[in-house]
Amino acid sequence: MIVDFTAIESGQRYFQTIQTLMPRPIAWVLTEHANGSYNLAPFSFFTAICSEPPLLMLSLGLKPTGGFKDTRINLERSGFCVIHIPDRPMLEAMNASSATLADDMSEVEQLGLSLQPFEGFALPRLADARVAYGCEIYEIKEMGAGPQSLLFVQIRQMFIDDAVVEVLANGRMKVDARKLDPVARLGANEYGFLTDITHLGRPD
Ligand SMILES: Cc1cc2nc3c(=O)[nH]c(=O)nc-3n(C[C@H](O)[C@H](O)[C@H](O)COP(=O)(O)O)c2cc1C
Repeated sequence: MIVDFTAIESGQRYFQTIQTLMPRPIAWVLTEHANGSYNLAPFSFFTAICSEPPLLMLSLGLKPTGGFKDTRINLERSGFCVIHIPDRPMLEAMNASSATLADDMSEVEQLGLSLQPFEGFALPRLADARVAYGCEIYEIKEMGAGPQSLLFVQIRQMFIDDAVVEVLANGRMKVDARKLDPVARLGANEYGFLTDITHLGRPD
């Protein structure tokens, strides 16, 4: 079957893409509202861009009512966000945090999630998340007719739970993917988990 992207609408293009470009990692993003409460929302149009500087990218559409999403507004105003990698026990809370709340309402409070100071960083992190990146805004670009907001953020520091890390003989860190157990986003409201992991060395 050939799907002609010039002959279908943007909603269909979206569904065709998210159901084939998978699995995708999920960025569970905490930002600060102007009133000091914390916003939390998941995004799976999310990837690493480069290491010098260490950049991640999120791609955000608009709210159903048309304006920018709170994550973009807060990040642009305050300059900072914390990106968490949700794991299996967090699946439902992560999904629930995608509901559109009133502009300054906190998903963190509504879902009863615990925060922990992120030592050396401007914002707290979710206490139960095993990976958190403390990030600072690098650049925002708007793409396409939406417009879609591309948020480029620079990682300032990372928290990783010692329980999922092994330090190898050469001093490098090895994260145990099974212990981390990250949630992967598929299409059609489906999610996946890592069950079958294989190791393959790179050719010389
Ligand atoms: C697993 C998952 C992935 C999502 N990925 C995206 C995404 O990549 N881009 C986007 O704009 N919205 C995405 N959404 C929807 C947002 O989470 C939702 O619009 C949210 O209300 C935005 O919150 P905010 O206005 O507080 O920033 C996703 C939702 C879920 C459940």
